[in-house]
Amino acid sequence: MQQPDLHRYEELARFVTGLVESGTLLPDSKAPSLRQISKQRGVSLSTALQAYRLLEDQGVLEARPKSGFYVARRGTLTLDVPGPSKPPGSATDVSVSRLVLRLLDYAADPDFVPLGCAIPSAELLSAGRLDRYLARAARMKGLEYNVYTPPRGDLALRQEIARRALRWGQALAPDDIAITCGCTEAVTLALKAVAEPGDTIAIESPTYFGLLQVIEALNLKALELPTHPSDGVDLDSLAQALASGGVAACLLSSSFNNPLGCTMPDEKKRELLRLLARHEVPLIEDDIYGEIYFDVERPKPFMALAPDGDILYCNSFSKTLAPGYRVGWIASSRRMRKILENKFAFTLCSPALPQAALAELLSSGGYDSHLRRMRRVFKDNVERTLRAVDRCFPAGTKVTRPAGGFVLWVELPPAVDSGRLFETALAEGICFAPGEVFSASKRYNHCLRVSCGYPWDRRIAEGIQALGALATAAAEAPPD
Ligand SMILES: Cc1ncc(COP(=O)(O)O)c(C=O)c1O
Repeated sequence: MQQPDLHRYEELARFVTGLVESGTLLPDSKAPSLRQISKQRGVSLSTALQAYRLLEDQGVLEARPKSGFYVARRGTLTLDVPGPSKPPGSATDVSVSRLVLRLLDYAADPDFVPLGCAIPSAELLSAGRLDRYLARAARMKGLEYNVYTPPRGDLALRQEIARRALRWGQALAPDDIAITCGCTEAVTLALKAVAEPGDTIAIESPTYFGLLQVIEALNLKALELPTHPSDGVDLDSLAQALASGGVAACLLSSSFNNPLGCTMPDEKKRELLRLLARHEVPLIEDDIYGEIYFDVERPKPFMALAPDGDILYCNSFSKTLAPGYRVGWIASSRRMRKILENKFAFTLCSPALPQAALAELLSSGGYDSHLRRMRRVFKDNVERTLRAVDRCFPAGTKVTRPAGGFVLWVELPPAVDSGRLFETALAEGICFAPGEVFSASKRYNHCLRVSCGYPWDRRIAEGIQALGALATAAAEAPPD
């Protein structure tokens, strides 16, 4: 039946997608020719072409030169997965800020294809309801909210956060939580609570450049640990570093590290916790991607596995709802006094209205269905991007297969300098994150991170294709 709100080409695209999904058209088989399908479905050739172009953008069909359209090869990715990283094994000073600022100049600029910043599009965040709660709170109780809150933050919000955490086995009292300006302030407060300038922090490698920047700003050193793209840091290397006595704290992602996407299985998390407890070294965990899982269950944070451990848990609503609200939180039962002293010293408290709006949204329901939708879209985006990279990037490229989050880590052939590729891609209107910003020791300059935070469309599809062509040209260029 014709759907009134669909164009004819969209209707035809849906029909063909149905054939693929039902298995009538098999992966890698030839799709009906444009002439056949236009005749069968009673549409013009140009409508059929428009439909096939849409299906190509959606990754359902592939156009093969001189041979027509084929059903995309699902389940047969050809590119390998990167191996574990091999950082230097000694602590280093960090200086990534200059490079990161160069990336940030372009990453949020709408004129560039948005593969650079790990931020979901506004459309996906769909924070309209949250905005309405904020407007209502301002209208009804504006005077009440125009105050300094206690440094811990809004009690109703802390209660909602504690209630949600209980679902994945993290038993928190509202007083063990302090509201922060995003996850960034949570990590800053955590590091300030456990380390002094000059101390060494053990981290994943590669890791999110914002964590490196905080380490840099606090005059700490980073010890990059070998990290596997599926199950995280190498425990033998960590054990060695701990035995040498020079590690003040460990800073790891709880799940889906940015950029590798790795998550430790629970048993490995437990082993790491035992190791840290033996050496009395605190763990700072960043769980910002924990809610964006593609399998059936949310991975447990470390804190849920060791409620009595010396753990400082950091998170925010930036990846799921509202990066602009700047609301995050830190949880720790042992270190709260120090955290609050520093919270007060740095920012006094977080703004009251965004906290009130978030508390209202969490208590009124609807956040879970929003998260379910986001997970579906991210999973789909990651899958399509992965297939596009598989099709368009040079032989010898390796790419991760994350089970959550929304970034891919791409290891290019060693001859490609992703810093230079960054400049060439910018000239073509494409932004991605070059590998070097994810390292304290200036490695990964043949790697890059691609963000999948925007719904898949023609612009993204063409951007990845063009980036693949630039990478191929760079891989094939004679050495300087
Ligand atoms: C791992 C990780 N931690 C923290 C942040 C920053 O979070 P927020 O915007 O809440 O400060 C990001 C943002 O990209 C991130 O990827």
